[in-house]
Amino acid sequence: MKKDFLTLLDVDSGELAALLAEAERLKALRREGRPHALLPGSSLGMIFEKASTRTRVSFEAGMHDLGGHALFLNPTDLQLGRGEMVRDTARVLSRYVSAVMIRAYKHSTLEEFARYASIPVINGLSDIAHPCQVLADLLTLKEHFASLKELRLAWIGDGNNVCNSLLLASAHTGLELRVACPPGYRPPQEIVDEARSRGAVLTFCRTPEEAAKGAHALYTDVWVSMGNEAEREARLRAFRGYTVTADLVRMAEPDALVMHCLPAHRGEEITDDVIEGPQSVVWDQAENRLHAQKALLVRLLR
Ligand code: CP
Ligand code: NVA
Repeated sequence: MKKDFLTLLDVDSGELAALLAEAERLKALRREGRPHALLPGSSLGMIFEKASTRTRVSFEAGMHDLGGHALFLNPTDLQLGRGEMVRDTARVLSRYVSAVMIRAYKHSTLEEFARYASIPVINGLSDIAHPCQVLADLLTLKEHFASLKELRLAWIGDGNNVCNSLLLASAHTGLELRVACPPGYRPPQEIVDEARSRGAVLTFCRTPEEAAKGAHALYTDVWVSMGNEAEREARLRAFRGYTVTADLVRMAEPDALVMHCLPAHRGEEITDDVIEGPQSVVWDQAENRLHAQKALLVRLLR
């Protein structure tokens, strides 16, 4: 594996498959109550420029399960918040902890940190990628389908960080991603091109209905990501008609999965009955963050 995990380009398809297998193994060990302190004495610094429930708690609980320790570092409490350079912080933290996880507004912050750090740096969400989320999503899909290769996954809504990471997941696994985004909210062309050059199977659809038809899973995310709050009104207008409703779910395969990375805004990108309905696997996705990230930590630190 490469030193860092900033996007899904930092693993090859074989490494991704091995990570998912390790996550399944660690999930089983935890379920059986069998100790798996594979990283005794390891520590993970966690820098959050934005709010988080799942990422923060799953990394912290995960390090505990593995016999290590996690430190929550609020950038406004660090000297970073008073203008200490990212590169200086990276070199200093490298002398104290085994790895750092960062949730940053700008992906370039993560890249600079990783360039200067001598320890692994993990992306806990940036403006362009959310690779840890997609590890958990692939694990969730694997639990329901024999092969990822034959899957049709419909992305409905904003072509955002989670969508970008799914585009690269398609390149690794061969799953077909059908993307329905309003005009102006498609994923960045350079990421689409990169994913396609690596074999991603991508179809851009004109409507949510076109994407949903015959899909094995429907995936959506908020219309207003963290950092986009100033555009809220314009976005609510642009995304009208992109709600994942029970009618849309009926257009997919029978028993198609309904996915959401959470947090959700019921009544905007997804209706309450759908997220609470029998086809929703959103709580499994959230749980699988723990297992997938533990596998990642083990692979990076052992
Ligand atoms: N899905 C996800 O990353 O959730 P949090 O923002 O709560 O970490
Ligand atoms: N796209 C969302 C994901 C949150 C986990 C955001 O960036 O806010």
